[in-house]
Amino acid sequence: MKERLMQLQQEALLELEQAAGLEQLNELRVKYLGKKGPITEVLRGMGALSAEERPVIGQVVNDVRAAIETVIEAKTAAFRQAETDSKLRLETIDVTLPGRPQAHGAVHPLSKVIEDIEDIFVGMGYTVEEGPEVERDYYNFEALNLPQNHPARDMQDSFYITEELLMRTHTSPVQVRTMERMKGAVPVKIICPGKVFRRDDDDATHSHMFTQIEGLVIDKGIRMSDLKGTLLQFVQEMFGKQTQIRLRPSFFPFTEPSAEVDVTCSNCGGSGCRVCKQTGWLEILGSGMVHPRVLEMAGYDPNVYSGFAFGMGVERIAMLKYDIDDIRHFYTNDLRFLQQFVRV
Ligand code: PHE
Repeated sequence: MKERLMQLQQEALLELEQAAGLEQLNELRVKYLGKKGPITEVLRGMGALSAEERPVIGQVVNDVRAAIETVIEAKTAAFRQAETDSKLRLETIDVTLPGRPQAHGAVHPLSKVIEDIEDIFVGMGYTVEEGPEVERDYYNFEALNLPQNHPARDMQDSFYITEELLMRTHTSPVQVRTMERMKGAVPVKIICPGKVFRRDDDDATHSHMFTQIEGLVIDKGIRMSDLKGTLLQFVQEMFGKQTQIRLRPSFFPFTEPSAEVDVTCSNCGGSGCRVCKQTGWLEILGSGMVHPRVLEMAGYDPNVYSGFAFGMGVERIAMLKYDIDDIRHFYTNDLRFLQQFVRV
């Protein structure tokens, strides 16, 4: 009996040794330890044994069963571990893979500069106005003291829609529209950003469409020193505290006196370089005291009220501020250009 049990153990261990997986282990458990298995059969026959034999054989049966169970348990654990290992290997995530970048948009540099300029003037109490891009000849020229056939119209050759309608050549018509709307009330204190159009050949510094910001102040006792102080404040906030301005006599039909305004060259700080053609100054805008005839036509008595006006090219300001060498960059939508302003 004992021999048969030992042989059984050997057989079982050999078969378990060769088991290929969990399923087979289970089959072997049933085969050797199950209700119809040989061990159960031996246990059932115990009653026929003598009283001396019974505990001896009982011990052997228990040992054999324990030996088989131990191996089954060990092999089960090993198969489980192998299963987990291969699963982990299959599901490995390569954390060194570069992530997919999120595309970030940015405010266009021109919009950004317009907003900056608006902020500065709003801080000085100005409101922001707008006017139409298709403008009547009256507002674009006539009411600005530029009558039909006036030679100064040549400076602003334009795109005409009809005899009476044109693409505005500057933002100055918004001066007139605002004064008309205010019906003689003061103070008038506005800036007006917008697109303007001129018949021009496009090159690095010219474009047939560009952006201006107009400024207009009307009240009692407004003087040229107010214009100068306002513009100095503006350029110092825009380009830095060290920036100075210079007014040069000029001519515009709608201002008298008129002045071209220069700022100290941001490239050399005023000592003279290639950018400022060795002068130390860069022109940024046209300005002047509002012409009495313009005031009068718009319903303001020039003997009571006075004012100043200015008009600047936004592209020029942006080019100076961000060192941009070609005006066409603003309009071609090249991402290599635009992406440089994501964090500006
Ligand atoms: N409108 C003028 C231009 O486009 C600029 C300007 C505006 C000059 C206001 C004086 C006063 O050239």
